[in-house]
Amino acid sequence: MPSGSKGTGDKVVIVTGAASGIGAATVRRLADHGYSVVAADLAPEVKEMATADGRISAVVADLTDESANQEMVAKANEQHGRIDAIVLNAGVTTYGSIEGTPIAEFDRVMAVNVRATVLGMQAALPSLRRSGGVISVTCSIQGLHGDPTLWIYSASKGAVVNLVRSVALELGPAGIRVNGVCPGPIAQTGMTAGTEAHHPEIFARVASHIPLQRWGTADEVAAAHLFLLSSASSFMTGSMLTLDGGLTAGTGVYKPGDV
Ligand SMILES: NC(=O)c1ccc[n+]([C@@H]2O[C@H](COP(=O)([O-])OP(=O)(O)OC[C@H]3O[C@@H](n4cnc5c(N)ncnc54)[C@H](O)[C@@H]3O)[C@@H](O)[C@H]2O)c1
Repeated sequence: MPSGSKGTGDKVVIVTGAASGIGAATVRRLADHGYSVVAADLAPEVKEMATADGRISAVVADLTDESANQEMVAKANEQHGRIDAIVLNAGVTTYGSIEGTPIAEFDRVMAVNVRATVLGMQAALPSLRRSGGVISVTCSIQGLHGDPTLWIYSASKGAVVNLVRSVALELGPAGIRVNGVCPGPIAQTGMTAGTEAHHPEIFARVASHIPLQRWGTADEVAAAHLFLLSSASSFMTGSMLTLDGGLTAGTGVYKPGDV
């Protein structure tokens, strides 16, 4: 497995949802640590990540589509002759009440967060079986807990958490590791930049609930993906790595100094 050491250049990874936020930070961190990266996203801006030396190449694709996933994998194999890892990170969110939200919105979010994650695994697995590869999925603390108005997102991330666990059990004997990261609130991504810009009071209140008293950064999540792809995590599979500044460590009933 990739050692995580800089400059090896011989490991190939696909990162989905790579045009912004956590995905873009993961592309940069993995490339900095010697991976050749195929960066895939629905947003054409992902092409701006490509480098002239081919270390980072880009694929524009709607990954809710099965053939788009097959084409993404075929491109990685054509370019590099192998795939050692895939980071399944593409995701969307939505807010709304259970009674007031049209089912089409549920279908839209589940298609990206769950269906595209499954399709990415299915497309990459023949290559990962050849390389003894590794899968890392961006889940969420929202897949471990619920919140008002976030029922669709939480249901989708809960599905992905148990997808990771189940597939890890199936693929363990083949030597393929499958893990997830569960970030808490991560600032300045496509999903959250609006909160900071337009709702500073909510942004500050969220930070105040986090024991470390701040939002996380996309690069902190990228570091977790790097770890889960590397031999440093070689005995981890079916695990969730929580990165939330301590937010989900307690019950929330007591604060420091209460008792
Ligand atoms: N930001 C947070 O606080 C946070 C917390 C926990 C988990 N996450 C998860 O992290 C992941 C990345 O989110 P982010 O916060 O960086 O937001 P983001 O909006 O910056 O990144 C999501 C990316 O997914 C891409 N995408 C959406 N639909 C797609 C599709 N059909 N095909 C291909 N690409 C598609 C978007 O174009 C975008 O570039 C998501 O899975 C999200 O659920 C985010």
